Amino acid sequence: MAMQQQVSPIGRDTVRVDGPQKVTGVAQYTSDFHFPGMLYAVPVGATIAKGSITWLDTKPAETMPGVVAIFHRANIGKIFRSIPGPGFSGICEERRPPFEDDIIRYYGQYIALAVAETFETAKAAADAVVTTYASEEPNVEMQLEADDEPDEVMTTFGPMKRVESERGDPQSAFASAPVKVDHTYATPFETHNPMEPHSTTAIWEGSSLTLYESSQGVVNLRGVLAQMFGLPVENVRVITKFVGSGFGSKLWPWTLCPLAAAAARQVGAPVRLVLARKMMFHAVGHRPRTQQRVRLGATREGKLLSLQQDYVYTRSMLDAHHEGCGEGTPFAYSVPNLRVTFGRARRNIGGGADMRGPGRVPGLYAIESAMNELAHELNMDPVQLRILNEPKIDESSGLPFSSRHMVECLQVGSEKFGWSKRDRAVGSMKRDGLTLGWGVAGCSWIAARFAAAGYVQLRDDGSCRVASATQDIGTGTYTNLAQLASARTGIPLDKVEVELGDTAFPEGPISGGSMATPSLVNAVFAAADQAIESLKTAAVSAPGSPFANHKAEDLAFEKGAMFHKKDSIAKGVPFSELLRHAKLRMVTGKGQSPASFGNPEPKFSTQSFGCHFVEVTWQPEIARLRVSRVVSVIDAGKIINTLAGRNQIQGAVVMGLGMALLECTEYDRQNGAPINSSLADYLVAVNADAPAIDVHFLDYPDKEINEIGARGIGEIGLAGIAAAITDAVHHATGVRVRELPVRIEDLLV
Ligand code: MOS
Repeated sequence: MAMQQQVSPIGRDTVRVDGPQKVTGVAQYTSDFHFPGMLYAVPVGATIAKGSITWLDTKPAETMPGVVAIFHRANIGKIFRSIPGPGFSGICEERRPPFEDDIIRYYGQYIALAVAETFETAKAAADAVVTTYASEEPNVEMQLEADDEPDEVMTTFGPMKRVESERGDPQSAFASAPVKVDHTYATPFETHNPMEPHSTTAIWEGSSLTLYESSQGVVNLRGVLAQMFGLPVENVRVITKFVGSGFGSKLWPWTLCPLAAAAARQVGAPVRLVLARKMMFHAVGHRPRTQQRVRLGATREGKLLSLQQDYVYTRSMLDAHHEGCGEGTPFAYSVPNLRVTFGRARRNIGGGADMRGPGRVPGLYAIESAMNELAHELNMDPVQLRILNEPKIDESSGLPFSSRHMVECLQVGSEKFGWSKRDRAVGSMKRDGLTLGWGVAGCSWIAARFAAAGYVQLRDDGSCRVASATQDIGTGTYTNLAQLASARTGIPLDKVEVELGDTAFPEGPISGGSMATPSLVNAVFAAADQAIESLKTAAVSAPGSPFANHKAEDLAFEKGAMFHKKDSIAKGVPFSELLRHAKLRMVTGKGQSPASFGNPEPKFSTQSFGCHFVEVTWQPEIARLRVSRVVSVIDAGKIINTLAGRNQIQGAVVMGLGMALLECTEYDRQNGAPINSSLADYLVAVNADAPAIDVHFLDYPDKEINEIGARGIGEIGLAGIAAAITDAVHHATGVRVRELPVRIEDLLV
């Protein structure tokens, strides 16, 4: 029979399926779960950044009414170190378990933990712990020079060569190039500051541990805790139903998780630990500071001859977080001679961490800024310069790109922005008494899959259920999974239930690297297919079923109902009815898809691309700088949810505005404390700062990534935007700022 073609839920504006739960307050974030007998923990943080504890006096705190225990090195019990395993497992940035020794490496390092019947008592007890230190002068120096280290260094994810990428002879090509730029760009320490602070609640039942945690990766967290407490992974369960964002700070577990778990083990009751905003600046990561020297050599016509990027970033005394600023460099442009190197500089600051677009965001700020400066040197249009140097293949690997439409991004962006009206002369463009500045930059982000698994159930109440041990950090994963299951089964979106954030489900990906959704596509499709196959088997074997004694392969499942391909036996039997005939509550299909990330023999270079066009307004009389208008064009394959997708890019652009003009964590030279450790003093871009943002997606499905051709979009929107803004600032003011954030005083010249 002729089927009415159903409109696919893929590639459409789709409102969040979890929206009503969020706006009505039904959605349960980690610290919304309450347990009988639960106790509250508040950590004591070191008030020096370098030295050691000489005396810890817990007596005054212990004797306070309502205090259950004050934990420290002598009484917390054994916590083992976790080590990385295959895939993304066993990963944490600060590998040293809390309280392992009395050495202080950074301000805010946990030295004790107060546990009490109420949060207020625990806070008072933590404040009453008296600590004496042997203090030394901390190193929080902002000027970076690489530490003396070997050519290959160990990082969180394994060994890395400090010469990251090399081809041709970049030094002599640079020396003989007719046109050169040679500048150093710096990006500051930035602190993630998600709305929801980090939070852990630990519950022991015998030798089984359940952790409610605000996490971007429940599966890895389970593995890390199993190692830290010497448990089989089956004995650990991690639950994360809703996350008030993370930006990378919740990707890998921090020391507060084992602390809460160890305390709960000792007191024999559930223990909750929620960080105060101030503590969010200490021991849960930040984007490291970077200094990047970029040298470009080109012909007078603008053809690149040489590209060198030498960067240094900070790390803590404990971690080996790698801030890969060179990640997007080797294939950004066609250039025969190239070299990318890095070095690291240890500081007495808490562990660095992935922060939205780690590595590539600061990296592309430097590279794209240098390209804009080269265009200026050449008196050439920066869009033309980029098009002239567009590579045909990934020249670092020699592989073709699976799908690259950078030139089209630039052309579409130029058109939408009105770039052809740009007058290149500094300060020459005016509107309504304001000086305008226009800038542009390109961007890219890796596209790949992590290993992912999930299940899809067709249930006798007419609902479809999808589940995976991944999590929605606010980006729309619940909705994407509902769309995927709906697309594959034809069951309408409002009949699809999604369950995430529980390690009891099949192992899903981290919400990181913009890879959660692309990783899950094939897994959900395979699970749906398997569930449908089981339903067909049930339909032909159940007595009383309209399809009894037919062949399963003659059946087709469309719009949530079963049809016979050849005979019109029945007019589409709903799956719930078939399940009832078969006396089944449900059929379940499991699906999984392998990782493509880290594939040692890739056939393609898989990346997403894009560009940003930015307008700033400048009022020199009152030194007022605003970002007024942004056009972003993104080539990220097929966009599954265009509404959430645009929101991701808009959010990233606003965050990029913060990166360019506002965000910077400052450290006190005397005690190493982050000084502006509050949301009043650490400035992030807010609604009032947000410009008009026009997001446009190209629509080229990339089937290398998954069946739909969807790549990720969480992070790419932040890449490049700061370079476009600083170029616009230069165009308006004539001032080239090479150290972020741009401050008003930089422009008062
Ligand atoms: Mo993102 S920094 O991979 O959470």
